[in-house]
Amino acid sequence: MKKLKLETTLDVFDSVSELPQDIQELMIKAQQAREKAYAPYSSFKVGAALQLANGEVVLGNNQENAAFPSGLCAERVAIFYAGATYPGVAVTSIALTVRSLEHTVTKPTPPCGACRQSIAEYEVNQKSSINIYFMGETGTVVKADSIEVLLPFVFDNTFLK
Ligand code: THU
Repeated sequence: MKKLKLETTLDVFDSVSELPQDIQELMIKAQQAREKAYAPYSSFKVGAALQLANGEVVLGNNQENAAFPSGLCAERVAIFYAGATYPGVAVTSIALTVRSLEHTVTKPTPPCGACRQSIAEYEVNQKSSINIYFMGETGTVVKADSIEVLLPFVFDNTFLK
């Protein structure tokens, strides 16, 4: 038996103002998208802004449903829209932010497991990594320089071949 050790490194920024200028702008777009979320059941609004290699920015937010599992997370709303509208165009960066109507979220809030899996599909297909920046409402911003950092041992299409 051998142990396989995985090392992951995340960059931690104290606040949005520490981010590179273009990513600050992307995070502001994510915040604006977040405020338009439809989250009447959880009161937890999530915003996503995707920078595409063709210069376009695609936005998404969570869309809830009275039949709870029928809703969709912000990240998948955005990445599926990007895939549907700009097929074959690489996603270079994703900015994510959340706001609860019940408490102030200061913890950097990462994408859920299902969203990580969905993002991985696009990263694998485009053959270039996606920078993922995530934060709460205020405070620290965390950067993963690939979805692999957040989802090691990903199940991807290589297992189907
Ligand atoms: N949510 C997202 O939009 N993204 C995530 O990665 C985690 C959770 C949404 C789903 C639901 O509308 C609300 O946040 C509470 O879970």
